[in-house]
Amino acid sequence: EELKELVSKLYSTHHLEKGEYVSLIENRDAVRDYLFELSRSVREKYYGKDVYIRGLIEFTDYCKNDCYYCGIRCSNKQAERYRLSKEQILDCCKTGYELGFRTFVLQGGEDPYYSDDMICDIVCSIKRDFPDCAVTLSIGEKSEESYRRYFESGADRYLLRHETADYEHYSKLHPPGLSAKHRQDCLRTLKKIGYQTGAGFMVGSPYQTAENLADDMLFLEELKPEMVGIGPFIPHHATPFADKPQGTAELTLFMLGLVRLALPDVLLPATTAIGTIHPTGRELALKAGANVVMPNLSPTDVRKKYLLYDNKICTGDESAQCRMCLQKRVEDAGYRIVESRGDHASFNERK
Ligand code: SAM
Ligand code: FES
Repeated sequence: EELKELVSKLYSTHHLEKGEYVSLIENRDAVRDYLFELSRSVREKYYGKDVYIRGLIEFTDYCKNDCYYCGIRCSNKQAERYRLSKEQILDCCKTGYELGFRTFVLQGGEDPYYSDDMICDIVCSIKRDFPDCAVTLSIGEKSEESYRRYFESGADRYLLRHETADYEHYSKLHPPGLSAKHRQDCLRTLKKIGYQTGAGFMVGSPYQTAENLADDMLFLEELKPEMVGIGPFIPHHATPFADKPQGTAELTLFMLGLVRLALPDVLLPATTAIGTIHPTGRELALKAGANVVMPNLSPTDVRKKYLLYDNKICTGDESAQCRMCLQKRVEDAGYRIVESRGDHASFNERK
């Protein structure tokens, strides 16, 4: 009952102390149903049964970084590397537009081949050809100057998961040279510039503790991002973490519920990763408080190459198939896809 009170407290104040988060996470079996009852009602209060869709374009799998968990890390010599041209990216957008997408997410490794000029040119071209669409970038840590240039070219949103808020845990997941502090600074810069900003973390990443997850919650409370990406860690066979256990759908869903209560109107995707480790993972995520899905719009021939982790779903399907499959899954879960930009509530008010 004390645990239920903690959930109620988070529901009404959007804040818990670190120790309170830890006890909820450690004793989650006893409060899961209650949490989901509240997280679902909050989600429906802000977004009803609506689910926003984002067309994900994985435009390069070259990466200069060497994160220990990631399948496209530069040390993975088995990865088949590819880059999409501006024309190929615009073709993906055209296909996507016809399928009802009004947000395009350009995601890639940190690939220095794409200069700031090229990124700005790509963003400008998408905004010119599809003026009623939002563009989200997810291309890693850049300078403030670069972030500003992309924003001025028309980029609306930026996804940069903080991965783990704890500095020491971060250093166990990344080689020296990458720091939690720098990543968090980037997130603050993105918010300051005016992006709808997405943070987020992996659940069940190697060495993660309940304290680490509590710190992730506190970090989100403080940053107040407009979007939060949460998915289970899934091992990739050609990385240092090949033999580490994968995160569970169960804990991922619980964390989604907590995030929905801490940031009531946040844009919260049901990720591909949770769909990969559980056959109805994305549907369950929607029922736990998620309100966004991000089907793949990348050309079919490159999908298997953008392999962050093993057994990734949707790598063999055409964009149209994926779109229809998700439509059915979302409807079976009792929700409906809406074909709009799907901005964060606070950004609708600003316009
Ligand atoms: N390079 C950009 C960046 O660093 O933000 C975007 C691409 S990065 C591959 C996108 C996200 O994939 C990361 O933020 C990370 O959380 C997730 N990811 C990478 N490897 C993963 C794995 N093995 N299991 C689950 N998620 C993974
Ligand atoms: Fe891609 Fe089901 S969502 S095939």
